[in-house]
Amino acid sequence: MKCVWWALIAAVVLCMPGVPGLNNGLALTPPMGWLHWERFMCETDCVKDPTNCISEQLFMQMADVMVSNGWLKAGYKYLCIDDCWLATHRDANNRLQADPTRFPGGIKKLADYVHAHGLLLGIYQDVGKQTCAGYPGSQGFYELDAQTFADWGVDLLKFDGCYYGTLEQLEDGYRHMSIALNRTGRHIVYSCEWPFYSRRLSKVNYTEVAEYCNSWRNFDDIQDSWTSLKTMIDFTAALQDQLVPAAGPGAWNDPDMLVIGNFGLSWDQEVTQMALWSIMAAPLLMSNDLRDISPRSKALLQNQEVIAINQDSLGAQGYRVLKVDSFELWEKPLAGGSLAVSVTNRKEIGGARCFILSGSMLGKGLACKKCYLTQLLPTRYEYGSYNATFVLQLSVNPSGTVLLKVESDIIIK
Ligand SMILES: *[C@@H]1O[C@H](CO)[C@@H](O)[C@H](O)[C@H]1NC(C)=O
Ligand SMILES: *[C@@H]1O[C@H](CO)[C@@H](O)[C@H](O)[C@H]1NC(C)=O
Repeated sequence: MKCVWWALIAAVVLCMPGVPGLNNGLALTPPMGWLHWERFMCETDCVKDPTNCISEQLFMQMADVMVSNGWLKAGYKYLCIDDCWLATHRDANNRLQADPTRFPGGIKKLADYVHAHGLLLGIYQDVGKQTCAGYPGSQGFYELDAQTFADWGVDLLKFDGCYYGTLEQLEDGYRHMSIALNRTGRHIVYSCEWPFYSRRLSKVNYTEVAEYCNSWRNFDDIQDSWTSLKTMIDFTAALQDQLVPAAGPGAWNDPDMLVIGNFGLSWDQEVTQMALWSIMAAPLLMSNDLRDISPRSKALLQNQEVIAINQDSLGAQGYRVLKVDSFELWEKPLAGGSLAVSVTNRKEIGGARCFILSGSMLGKGLACKKCYLTQLLPTRYEYGSYNATFVLQLSVNPSGTVLLKVESDIIIK
C-alpha cells in the first residue's frame, strides 16, 4: 500500500507539465499577507503622525495583531514593507540601510521579530536608479542588495520599476535580480512590476515573466474606491487570453492589494473584491489597518471557504465567461473537477436584480453528474445536489457579487 502511494505521489510530481512558475519552490499558491502601501503610503513624519508613519513600530504592531486576531491562522503570513523604509543614501560599503530614525533596530531585528511571531517579512526595492518615492534604487547593485536582503532574513521582495532607464535596462534588471536572489540561496518570493512598466513600450512575453517572477503587477496602483476596483476587474478581463495561461503554481498575475476594511468600498463592493480576487487567483495582500477593522470586513477577509478558492491547489486563474445585461459571470476551475462561480451585478442604480444561472452557461470544467452547490458570499447557503444542467435564480445587489462553489461528485463522500 505504501509503495502504491509513493508511486502515485511520484507520478503526480513527475507529470506536472507546464508548471509555468519561477522554479524557487515558493508561492505554489497565491501569496497571502499584508502590505503597507495603499493604506499607509509614504508618511515619514513620525512626530506629526506617530501611529501611522512608516516605522518599525507600525510593522511590530501589525505583526502582533496578525497573530492575536487570527490573520496568520487564516493564512495571511507575509508582513510586507513597501516604499519609504530606506535611508536617503547607502552606507560606506554601498549597502542599503533603513531610515535610522524610523527603523532604529534595522531590518534584521525587525525580521527576527516577525519570524518569532511565525510570520514572514516582505521588503520593497526598485529595479531603477531610485524607488518611486525617490530613495536609492537597486540599479547597479542587484547582487549586493539581494545579498543584503538575504542576510537580513527577508522572505519576499516587491521590486518596483520607477526610474528604470531603457526598456532593455528594465527587462535585464528584472532578470538580473531574479538570478541574484536565487544565488543567495535564501528562498525569497519575487514580486515584480515588469509588465506594468514594459507593456507601454512593447508586447509582454508572459511566459518569460513567469520564468523569472513569482507574481507580477500588470496595471495601475489600486486605490480605495469602487472606480479603481472596476478598472482592475475590466483590465484583467480584457487581457484574460494573455494573463490566464501565464498563471499557475509559482506564478501569479497581481491585480494589487485588497482594500477591504478601509473607507472607500461599500459592503457589496468589499464582497466583490474578495470574490473576484479569489476567482482571479490573485495574491491576497491586504492594505488596511488591522488594528482597527470592522468585524464584518474581518470575517470576510478571513472566510476560509473563500480563501480556499483562492488557494486551490490546481492554481488555475479564473476568467470571465459572460457579460450580459450588466451582469458578469466568472468561473475558476478547482482541483478535483470542481468550479468556483461568481456573478457580479454591474448596474449601479436600483436594487438587487435576478440572474438566472444555469449549469449549461458555465464554460469549461463542469464535469459533475451530481453537483453540490453552495453559495459562499455574500452569505452562506447550501443549495444541495443538482445535475449539471441546474438552474438557479440568484439575487445580486448593485456592485455586489454572489460567489458559489460547484463541487463535483468526484469529491462528494
Ligand atoms: C535556484 O534555481 C534553481 C534552478 O531553477 C532551483 O532549483 C533552486 O531551488 C533555486 N534556489 C533558490 C534559493 O531559489
Ligand atoms: C517568450 O519567452 C519564452 C521563454 O523565455 C521563449 O521561449 C519564447 O520564444 C518567447 N516568445 C517570444 C514571442 O519572444
